[in-house]
Amino acid sequence: MSLKNIRLEVMQFLEKDIDTLIEKYLIPIDKIWQPSDFLPDSEGEQFFDEVTEIRELAKELPYDFWVVLVGDMITEEALPTYESWLMDVEGVDQVGRNPWGKWIRQWTSEENRHGDLLNKYLYLSGRVNMK
Ligand SMILES: [Fe+2]
Repeated sequence: MSLKNIRLEVMQFLEKDIDTLIEKYLIPIDKIWQPSDFLPDSEGEQFFDEVTEIRELAKELPYDFWVVLVGDMITEEALPTYESWLMDVEGVDQVGRNPWGKWIRQWTSEENRHGDLLNKYLYLSGRVNMK
């Protein structure tokens, strides 16, 4: 048996539990948090005051804090690469939408929320060169 066949058998073995795992660990889209829940409301009258507060608080945070968040941001920005790679793994059926494809899509949307929130926070903080 080749390594490729073993990998495929493992993926197929795990596939039977994915729907249960999705139900157990991934919160449905209408119930999950959104980045806007943690950011100033740009439609609200307090928006600029809230941004000012973020910037004032950010001034007190140490250099190491920003280094860690920048490292996190770089990782989050690579999300399209992770999803492309995962969708190409043997046993993942992107077209037929088998449970692996469903898991990867939901995982990607979860990760995208992290990146979206972190990006907006870093940007609003005024402490990080986003480029
Ligand atoms: Fe993440």
